[in-house]
Amino acid sequence: MKNLLFGVLFILPFLPGCENSAEKETAAAATENAYYTEPHRPQFHFTPEKMWMNDPNGMVFYEGKYHLFYQHYPDSNVWGPMHWGHAVSRDLVHWQHLPIALYPDSLGMIFSGSAVVDWDNTSGLGENGKPPLIAIFTHHQPDWAEAGRQDFQYQSIAYSNDRGRTWTKYAGNPVIPNAEKIRDFRDPKVIWHEASQQWIMVFAAQDHVKLWASPNLINWTHLSDFGREWGSHGGVWECPDLFPIQVDNSGETKWVMLLSINPGGPNGGSATQYFVGNFDGKTFTLDPAFAPRVSGEKAVWLDYGRDNYAGVTWSDVPKEDGRRIFLGWMSNWDYATVVPTQAWRSAMTLPRQLILKKAADGLRLFSLPVEELKVLRGAVYAADPQTIGGELDLSSQIGFPPSQMEVLLEVELPEGAGTDFGVALSNSKGEQYRIGYDAAKNKFYSDRTKAGKTGFSEKFATARHTAPRPETSGPIRLHLFFDAASCELFADGGEVALTEIFFPSEDFSKVKLYALGGQANLSKIEVYPLKRAVGK
Ligand code: FRU
Repeated sequence: MKNLLFGVLFILPFLPGCENSAEKETAAAATENAYYTEPHRPQFHFTPEKMWMNDPNGMVFYEGKYHLFYQHYPDSNVWGPMHWGHAVSRDLVHWQHLPIALYPDSLGMIFSGSAVVDWDNTSGLGENGKPPLIAIFTHHQPDWAEAGRQDFQYQSIAYSNDRGRTWTKYAGNPVIPNAEKIRDFRDPKVIWHEASQQWIMVFAAQDHVKLWASPNLINWTHLSDFGREWGSHGGVWECPDLFPIQVDNSGETKWVMLLSINPGGPNGGSATQYFVGNFDGKTFTLDPAFAPRVSGEKAVWLDYGRDNYAGVTWSDVPKEDGRRIFLGWMSNWDYATVVPTQAWRSAMTLPRQLILKKAADGLRLFSLPVEELKVLRGAVYAADPQTIGGELDLSSQIGFPPSQMEVLLEVELPEGAGTDFGVALSNSKGEQYRIGYDAAKNKFYSDRTKAGKTGFSEKFATARHTAPRPETSGPIRLHLFFDAASCELFADGGEVALTEIFFPSEDFSKVKLYALGGQANLSKIEVYPLKRAVGK
């Protein structure tokens, strides 16, 4: 990219017809508009400018900015030696790309991890009375893996004293070597535990997580293990998170553990489950109000779609804000390396606020798109309440293309009819994506089987992907975000989330609501065009 940019800047002044300044400006504007316009490029989701990206890493808020690091391979659009890419944002919507933060070194590649503000300089790595940022990550040593050793992953740290712009690896790395010789031993997430006045690290070890404690982020002691006997074990455990959160509308605080698993997701491949419990500074235990549903193989999923993986939450969001904000990688290891994009690969999900509620099934995490996203909205199209049977074409009424759009619907389906209700996006090539609710099965679903390119992987579009609707009263509420190549469904006020990607060979130009096999009584239809958040 650097070379390319240099080329463009160098050539521009010599282009014929570029002599006067007005024309120069037009040429510059054209270059700017061409930025991020490749086929399938999301316009308000975070994507790397170029090349490969997977998990979000090191998410930390500091001095007015949300930092997002990410698993990145700058030399190819498929996975390779991992670096930490870096971007910052003031509002979680508009992102500024920054230079790569962490490069592989003699201890290995830089796998996933977290970052914290060391407010009291417990590490002693701060300078000039200012708190350092500390990144805690897994070093993955490929040479050792190749040589048949089992201890090739271990936890290390790096520090920054210039607001995350440059990083120094700690000279005593690793801070947690892999003495137990566990092959999958990675993805540390660190939090400050107020009650016991120490740092707590949680990381994944194959089929369970390990909890360690430290006074200074450097010297660590093993506390406990969790999870061998709980949740889903269809694949390897990765990328845990652990945080306290208030039960909505109560003074009670519970602890939530997020846990990604690959494969073994509810619709195949990678997915994220969670546990609600309590943490006493040493051990994490399940809460009785959650436990009955997760014995044996039964897991509770954060998102039922195929494309929300390795997500964790931001550290150090100010207390006055108080939100627990989540971001996931919007892909799936089943096909991530072969999706049909070239310049870059993969996007993040929308940032989401996690809320813990007492639902009919027990304590459940609800996901909602962050409020900040409202800045992207254009003028609303709102239709009167109405009953539909068959199809309602909104394409010409809304007056904007559906590629970047937010849709809010409230619908009641007459009992017993088994109506299949939803939203369909289509294009002139006859490709169609459907997302909706099937009353006969009591399931939300996403159907990308006919939504465009699918041949790149036989695992991509095998069937409708579904999410059971929990016991809920009132109308079905669908809140949807479309962005070129993805749809995120937040159903019933966020109780069910379903995130999926797709690749139409031409942008979708039509949008319809449908009610098949019965009628649908719509009490709310709101559609917003969404502005692009990328660009220079
Ligand atoms: C999850 C993951 C992590 C690992 C990283 C490597 O997607 O497999 O466990 O640290 O990706 O890129």
